[in-house]
Amino acid sequence: MGSADEYGDSAALAADLHRIIRATADSVGASGEGNELVDKVAGHLGVTLPKVTVVGQAWEAWEHANVQRGVDAYLAERGTTPDWFGIAGAHRGHEELVGMLVAAGKQGLYELGAVDFTTVAIGPDEVTEVVQLGLAATTAPGGEPVVLGVRGANLQYGQQQCRLEVLAADRAIATAVRDRIEQLMAEHDVLRGQVLAFGVSENRGNELLTFLPRPDLAGEDVVLPDGVLDSIERHIVGIAEHGDRLLAAGQHLKRGLLLHGPPGTGKTHTVRYLMGRLPGNTVVVLTGIAMRFIASAASLARRLQPSIVVLEDVDLIAQDRGHTPMGNPLLFSLLDAMDGIGRDADVTFLLTTNRAGELERALADRPGRVDLAVEIPLPDAAGREALLRLYGRGLKLTADLAPIVEGTDGVTASFVKELLRRASLRAITEHPADGEIVVGDAELAGALAEMNDARGALTRSLLGSRDA
Ligand SMILES: Nc1ncnc2c1ncn2[C@@H]1O[C@H](COP(=O)(O)OP(=O)(O)OP(=O)(O)O)[C@@H](O)[C@H]1O
Ligand SMILES: [Mg+2]
Repeated sequence: MGSADEYGDSAALAADLHRIIRATADSVGASGEGNELVDKVAGHLGVTLPKVTVVGQAWEAWEHANVQRGVDAYLAERGTTPDWFGIAGAHRGHEELVGMLVAAGKQGLYELGAVDFTTVAIGPDEVTEVVQLGLAATTAPGGEPVVLGVRGANLQYGQQQCRLEVLAADRAIATAVRDRIEQLMAEHDVLRGQVLAFGVSENRGNELLTFLPRPDLAGEDVVLPDGVLDSIERHIVGIAEHGDRLLAAGQHLKRGLLLHGPPGTGKTHTVRYLMGRLPGNTVVVLTGIAMRFIASAASLARRLQPSIVVLEDVDLIAQDRGHTPMGNPLLFSLLDAMDGIGRDADVTFLLTTNRAGELERALADRPGRVDLAVEIPLPDAAGREALLRLYGRGLKLTADLAPIVEGTDGVTASFVKELLRRASLRAITEHPADGEIVVGDAELAGALAEMNDARGALTRSLLGSRDA
């Protein structure tokens, strides 16, 4: 696989992720001598502006940190101190770098100035400084002079993507530099191994993709009927751990797990547990309206294998085609994305829904899309007792749990969790002394009565009590 394929993608995503903005040589129009900016570029390259060739590439806004990393690694590799400079002048947002050089030369619109920086996230709690608009004079792998131009997305100016432009006296030289930077971007990919979520951007492009902390849940934190978590883990984690041998034996790695069941029973909780169990995996989470990023998510997942694509509440888009006359375009995108990832790819799709019945058969039935569907049921008596103990871990639980277990038949796991919180609050209010919170029969029974109260009907139904 060539570097272009690893980084961008084939077929459907090529246009978005890998748009070559100036694949063909593009010569700059005016010589523009006398302008310091133009002179600096032309002087370094050793040719006049009209003879300069530009090879450029654009990436999605959220790749900005990767572009910077690729450029930094490239400059470090060249071994010379990078000579960064910027562009001064009004309306710098409006044009491509090359256009700006031309305008600098022809009309004196731009001058040599300082580099513009901005910050982008590279982890849940980490940001890095990147060049928003700047140029660096350096050399090609063969030693010829080149100038790199970096520009971040700027939605204010309608620039949805970030760009790299390589200026050189010769196209082959510029292309070699671009290709090398692209390789280095792949090697230094900041998205690899992260938990990423697509969201809806305010106006800063990079916020479309956010970094989330990786959950760290123990097996005991997930209360499910005997054997359920084991079978899920065997499928998802087991295949990951034995990937090489499975592949060698002609077995495929791509897998899809559908977790279905009533709200509040632990579908998302189980997904979070699995994220923690596969720490080396890149995770891409899509919920609700963010589902429209499915193609980008699948592309990231393929690029950043081993990886997991989490599709929460997938019924929102994947309702049976029979229900809507035209079918759902997002559903087709989802199916395409799932099918588009090769069977040998170490990519896991984790889907959750509380309306499995409405799920499109094509999604649920066909092997290779979803190959394991697991119901996450309401907790039985043993489960409710385990949940009481789990969420009572930080409390001193002196209550007799039996009547509570019996009295909560038909509720969800999240109901039990909330019950303990309310009981704790009662305990604190009634015995405000610091120290251990003692939850006895009175607190638990009181909290349960409150939650079962007619006034709590909405809460009860929201929390998933059967007799709501
Ligand atoms: N099986 C469980 N074991 C332990 N805790 C649970 C379990 N189910 C739910 N919880 C607790 O309740 C919270 C809410 O549950 P969760 O978000 O997993 O529900 P869900 O099944 O995804 O519901 P929805 O269908 O509404 O998305 C969890 O964050 C967790 O704290
Ligand atoms: Mg959920």
